[in-house]
Amino acid sequence: MSILLVTGGCGFIGSNFIRHLLATDPATSIINFDALTYAGNLANLVDIAKHPRYRFVKGDITDRDNVRAAMALGVTDIIHFAAESHVDRSIQDSGPFVRTNVNGTQNLLDAAREFSVKKYVQVSTDEVYGSLGATGLFTEETPLHANSPYSASKAGADLLVQAYHHTFGLPTVITRCSNNYGPFQFPEKLIPLFVTNLMRDEPVPVYGDGQQIRDWIHVHDHCTGVEAAWRNGTAGEVYNFGGKCEKTNLDLTHLIIDLLGKPRTLIRYVADRLGHDRRYAIDCSKAERELGWQPKVSFETGLNETIAWYKANSAWIDGIRNKEYMTYFEKQYGNLK
Ligand code: NAD
Ligand code: DAU
Repeated sequence: MSILLVTGGCGFIGSNFIRHLLATDPATSIINFDALTYAGNLANLVDIAKHPRYRFVKGDITDRDNVRAAMALGVTDIIHFAAESHVDRSIQDSGPFVRTNVNGTQNLLDAAREFSVKKYVQVSTDEVYGSLGATGLFTEETPLHANSPYSASKAGADLLVQAYHHTFGLPTVITRCSNNYGPFQFPEKLIPLFVTNLMRDEPVPVYGDGQQIRDWIHVHDHCTGVEAAWRNGTAGEVYNFGGKCEKTNLDLTHLIIDLLGKPRTLIRYVADRLGHDRRYAIDCSKAERELGWQPKVSFETGLNETIAWYKANSAWIDGIRNKEYMTYFEKQYGNLK
């Protein structure tokens, strides 16, 4: 029996991961450890809140006592999703990114050592590799060349993870994935922002010339990758995950607009993101070879299903837009302060 400490489980990918694992692995219990920042939403897991193998603990990874108290619940493994995750916010203020992504990771690594975890999985990102030119792919050997405060904080965390493996023999694995999309993604990221704006006939802001390229992967494929890395990844190794689906932002915007049946006149070209990375694309052959993993959701199916999900879940979107989602903790658990 494994008891996983899943950090950041109320966010987009963490909530999808928890739902997936509870549904598929009866031998695993999950402690969801989340600070409920603006990106954490208890509504993402309302359907499994009372699941017998699930427990929510409100806590901050930058607080050692919070982390140690959660670890003392019998944790055997850590899957670390919690992060400040939005590049634009890191350009506004990098402070929370260094605190959560670097200092928070250090706390978790110390706790992982103290409680002798069987496996520590660091959920990282392809953005630590920097930006590609017109050709080539990121492999696990690509040197780290982070360009934004967000990716620099994730790269710093990755280096700490590798140092704890090298120095202390901590059984760590790092995963680096490309751009995710799917249900429960906070509507600040391109796909949910554009879909939810267009649903209300509001304009969509395309940064710069819209020719930047991202490699899109459905969140379910990322979750099966993290699971495979946890179960079968070799300690000390890094595994890349990607969707083999490169698209320019403008092509993607046109696709979303067409699928929603809206006019292209809703596109607004706005000032470019500072330091905007031009292209990401992933070589995930190591994960395919060594973990037996493959991305399975076609972009066409995944995007159609994702748009349908946002259309069917307007109450979820409204809860975020009117900020009511920030009151769900008190409503569910009472005011514990
Ligand atoms: P998200 O922003 O949707 O969720 C982050 C979660 O972490 C939230 O629930 C938030 O409350 C929690 N959190 C933030 N600071 C915390 C703290 N100090 N203590 C405890 N909890 C805290 O993020 P996401 O998009 O689900 O990304 C999850 C992870 O995957 C991140 O580490 C991110 O770097 C990585 N990643 C994301 C993508 C992507 O496309 N979204 C791709 C590759 C990797
Ligand atoms: O590659 C993995 C990364 O993908 C993750 O590590 C990050 O956590 C995640 O946020 C994501 O980063 P991006 O910066 O690529 O995602 P975002 O959705 O913010 O932007 C995607 C592209 O769209 C990027 O080139 C910027 C552009 N964009 C974004 C927004 C929000 C726009 O043109 N307009 C927008 O309004």
